[in-house]
Amino acid sequence: METKNVINIKNLVKRFPVGKDYFTALQNVNLKLTEGEFIGLVGPSGSGKTTLLNIIGGLDSATEGSVSVLGNSMDNTSHNERAIIRRKYMGFIFQSYNLLPVYSVFENVELPLILNNIEKSEREKKVSQAIEWVGLSDKKNSKSADMSGGECQRTAIARAIVHEPALLLADEPTANLDAKNSHNIMKILSKLNSEISTSFVFATHDEKIMGYLRRIIHLEDGKIINDEKISKLESL
Ligand SMILES: Nc1ncnc2c1ncn2[C@@H]1O[C@H](COP(=O)(O)OP(=O)(O)OP(=O)(O)O)[C@@H](O)[C@H]1O
Ligand SMILES: [Mg+2]
Repeated sequence: METKNVINIKNLVKRFPVGKDYFTALQNVNLKLTEGEFIGLVGPSGSGKTTLLNIIGGLDSATEGSVSVLGNSMDNTSHNERAIIRRKYMGFIFQSYNLLPVYSVFENVELPLILNNIEKSEREKKVSQAIEWVGLSDKKNSKSADMSGGECQRTAIARAIVHEPALLLADEPTANLDAKNSHNIMKILSKLNSEISTSFVFATHDEKIMGYLRRIIHLEDGKIINDEKISKLESL
């Protein structure tokens, strides 16, 4: 099978204006990711993990260099153009879940499909499937305000994968969870990675989840200092 380029980043530089000066958060980053990869961005606080994820996801744009995601160039695009690419091809999981508290699990997971104009019967099928994937079928009518942290993060995962995105981005997805819930989340994501050909990129400090990663990109001061392929996988 031909391996597709999911991410192709060349000579990426990101500078943030700070007063009259600027701060360089990413310097000369080069990164390629092919279909089905399961990679982690690791490095100390402030090393640029979130900045890089946000640029890949089109939430922010590069100052210099080129970024292409699933064959779509993100260079010189408007915020709206990037939002369309993101909605179609990507799912996002954040540390803080970002669920709508008065919505039920079902309604939270349904949102991306509404935004993608998927019709109701199709939505119901896909939402039920995604909720089943994360093991929350019996909670589908619960409101996120009434659920545990682990359940909220599983809902956020269902929402991120309901449209079967080609690329899933996660920023510290297990940071607010205990060991048991963290392993549970990583097992769900590993299974999805092997069952649907979604590629995953995680930003994480969490030692507990390192064993699930197949490739680890080490960042320091905005630079990639090591790109490590892992051959031995933690048994799932
Ligand atoms: N909007 C901004 N304006 C100015 N500086 C910023 C902005 N966003 C991020 N930075 C700086 O860029 C650097 C990288 O930040 P980033 O959030 O990417 O780090 P991180 O690796 O995700 O850290 P953490 O592990 O704490 O989440 C930091 O020094 C941060 O202060
Ligand atoms: Mg961060």
